[in-house]
Amino acid sequence: MKIKAAVLYETGKARPYTESGPLQIEEVYLSAPLQDEVLVKIHAAGICHSDLSVIDGSRPRPLPMLIGHEAAGEVVECGAGVNDLKPGDHVVFSFVPACGHCIPCMTGRPALCEPGAAANTKGMLLNGGVRLKNASLRDLQHHLGVSAFAEYTVVSRRSLVKINKDISYDIAALFGCAVLTGVGAVVNTAQLHAGQTILVVGLGGVGLAALLGALSAGAATVIAADINADKRATALAMGAHYAIDPAEPEAVQKIKDITGGGVDIAVEFAGAVKALEFAYASTKRGGITVTAGLPHPSVSFALSPALLVGEERTLKGSYLGSCVPARDIPAFIALHQSGRLPVERLLSHTMDLHKINEGFERLAAGNVLRQVVLFA
Ligand SMILES: NC(=O)c1ccc[n+]([C@@H]2O[C@H](COP(=O)([O-])OP(=O)(O)OC[C@H]3O[C@@H](n4cnc5c(N)ncnc54)[C@H](O)[C@@H]3O)[C@@H](O)[C@H]2O)c1
Ligand SMILES: [Zn+2]
Ligand SMILES: [Zn+2]
Repeated sequence: MKIKAAVLYETGKARPYTESGPLQIEEVYLSAPLQDEVLVKIHAAGICHSDLSVIDGSRPRPLPMLIGHEAAGEVVECGAGVNDLKPGDHVVFSFVPACGHCIPCMTGRPALCEPGAAANTKGMLLNGGVRLKNASLRDLQHHLGVSAFAEYTVVSRRSLVKINKDISYDIAALFGCAVLTGVGAVVNTAQLHAGQTILVVGLGGVGLAALLGALSAGAATVIAADINADKRATALAMGAHYAIDPAEPEAVQKIKDITGGGVDIAVEFAGAVKALEFAYASTKRGGITVTAGLPHPSVSFALSPALLVGEERTLKGSYLGSCVPARDIPAFIALHQSGRLPVERLLSHTMDLHKINEGFERLAAGNVLRQVVLFA
């Protein structure tokens, strides 16, 4: 079938994106779902910094690619072997297709699925190959098995989580990445206990989702940090107890004073080494620092082994919020629907697909929370 989609042919284009137009809106061919695959109509697709990192070249991927990985939609057609979904079902996408058979999958860590990671790196579906071609019949790569900035997509069954129909698509989409990553980093990776202190560094869509998750999970003190004053004000309005500018010379000391020696848990969602250094320095003896930020792969972070050992510190990476999406997406949606995870507050802008370059320019300029592309 022919669909309208946003295709990335070239990375590293100059800003403003409203002028350079890194994403081309064009008609592409989508082939029918094969065995264990599903055709889904996309209703809402969120814009994540990880998409921007593909556009600006800090997250290198094979090109040309149909990007977008945070979305919600409706099942249109199931390929052979898909017996647990039917047309009309509502789904949220997971950006790691989990095969269910590899050791990480079998030990409860589908975020680390090995065939899933290999397919994502190649820009292919879990079964191998691509289902997308442009008008000149050139293959287009899939983005994280999802390719959401399109009217329809074909994905592995393993990239989908069925949800109830009583949540709107624009909010449901956020659960695919921002909420899964942010809340998951707090409750799964860091395993926050009620009464603990936490610092959230980087207050975009993912960081603010983590802040809401920390409040919901019973953190006693939530400190929010971002170099952007508007983001700090938003965090305070969302319930953070303190907001700190990490660029201030006394910032780490302020956090130590507030918490009596540092936070139990610091989580970083800025994608900048300085932010991770700040998070680590603000964590107390015996504390846990979690990073979900994704800077350019060439970037490294220096660590003192003496401090790590002498203070029994933990530094952990968090991918997909260490979630089991089939368990956590419905659970986090239920928490949202009970009023204890008000993630609708993350949705700052909606737009049509043809305005998507404007959305990326706003994200790069740094003054948005989560933006969602809506499809009629
Ligand atoms: N690990 C995962 O599974 C996963 C999933 C989604 C996103 N990510 C990554 O998480 C990061 C955040 O994504 P997002 O969509 O929320 O991005 P965003 O651009 O909306 O937010 C990033 C925030 O970090 C702030 N920031 C930048 N430098 C900072 C610094 N030195 N100190 C403090 N704050 C700083 C910015 O002002 C901004 O508010 C990105 O690196 C993204 O690639 C990781
Ligand atoms: Zn994302
Ligand atoms: Zn697997």
